[in-house]
Amino acid sequence: MSDQAELTVDGKNYTLPIVTGTEGERAIDIARLRSETGLTALDPAFGNTASCESKITYIDGDKGILRYRGIPLEAFAEHPNFVEVAWLLIFGHLPNLTEYESFSKELTENANLDEDMKHHFAGFPRSAPPMAILSAMISTLSCFHPHLFELDGADQFEKAAARLISKIRTLAAYTYRRSRGLPYIYPDPKLPYVSNFLHMMFSEVYGPYLPEPEVRSALNLVLILHADHEQNCSTSTVRMVGSSQANLFASCAAGVSALWGPLHGGANVKVIEMLESIHRGKQTAREYIDAAKDKSSGVKLMGFGHRIYKNFDPRATMLREVSEKLFARLGVDDPLLEIARNLEEIALSDDYFLERKLYPNVDFYSGIILRAIGIPTNMFTVLFAIGRLPGWISHWHEQNSDPAMRISRPRQIYTGNPLSNYVPMEDRI
Ligand code: ACO
Repeated sequence: MSDQAELTVDGKNYTLPIVTGTEGERAIDIARLRSETGLTALDPAFGNTASCESKITYIDGDKGILRYRGIPLEAFAEHPNFVEVAWLLIFGHLPNLTEYESFSKELTENANLDEDMKHHFAGFPRSAPPMAILSAMISTLSCFHPHLFELDGADQFEKAAARLISKIRTLAAYTYRRSRGLPYIYPDPKLPYVSNFLHMMFSEVYGPYLPEPEVRSALNLVLILHADHEQNCSTSTVRMVGSSQANLFASCAAGVSALWGPLHGGANVKVIEMLESIHRGKQTAREYIDAAKDKSSGVKLMGFGHRIYKNFDPRATMLREVSEKLFARLGVDDPLLEIARNLEEIALSDDYFLERKLYPNVDFYSGIILRAIGIPTNMFTVLFAIGRLPGWISHWHEQNSDPAMRISRPRQIYTGNPLSNYVPMEDRI
């Protein structure tokens, strides 16, 4: 196979190198396209553009493969441990016992918020969208820990990463408690990461919340399955913001905003709203599917389709299995699960979805699991953000450790007015 591509423009030939990734994926390197040809490449929504080289996550969307640092996602299912996966993504290898214990200790020691930060929660209306609060509060962390702006060496970076991963769950839990008018519950240093989050969410001042092992395990897995997905919208946002050398907190706050949208992380909320509307009898599953096929309806089958996966999304398959196990263990009988299965069955035997290669994505079953755990719908995307944070941090770090890093600055093709005259106000019609 050739390692270069030929391009002919206006009768002149140019040679462009072809870059090959670890798994054989090939890309034409156009870094010198403009300087050599005077042309740029137009690729709306970046459907054909690799924005960087990365060693973190590998996806083969046609085969339904997802690997973190080379390890297949399925390997984490038996003993799901989110902290271990966070370390793997950020530092590039599975932690040994010393590394794991040291990182866990950092997480424990950094779980509390500065007491002054708590006053900020009171400034938001109780009904404020949790993603708005989360984005604002992650930016606010920059004000309370300014010494972590200039990350001086590996030790400083590890501390900043641990601080952020630890505090995001406290921010999330306090957002929920405040929205319900409940007192804040301090983190418990004896509890591991996920249990501590559940404790801060659901314990009462007069009694601890003791989750079933299956609940801890399911939530660990949900977070792991969301932990990274290479250059998705929010991760690309974090890289874009980080490329200006904005600090880690500011860059991740921007990632939260990008994740909020209903076509990205916000889809898990929309899935539940869709299932609830069918449950309430607003329309049948079949009628909903018909509306989703009709472009003029503005309706989409939420939790279906993906820019990259054109086969199945392995995360959706794993979540479907987890939802079945969890429901059996907790004795939950959620009618929404039945509706979801029904929708999936109808869609997967319909030519519209088959021809377009639209399969359930990660959001299709994640909301149903979070509901069973007791997480309210408006917190679903916040849970996605907790899961995705190690991915954002690892991409920010990978980019900022590259001595060749430049500020991200795409170009455009201008299609507006040609040169026009300024018309004084009195002469305008
Ligand atoms: N329901 C109905 N039709 C769909 C759906 C859907 N969920 N998704 C895509 N299509 C159709 C499109 O209308 C298009 O049809 P056409 O070829 O007749 O014009 C065709 O399938 C191809 O879709 P694209 O728009 O090219 O897909 P794109 O890669 O731009 O978008 C996206 C992917 C945003 C995920 C889309 O499938 C979608 O909106 N899904 C629903 C929202 C969702 O679940 N988002 C979560 C994604 S996963 C994540 O971010 C964590």
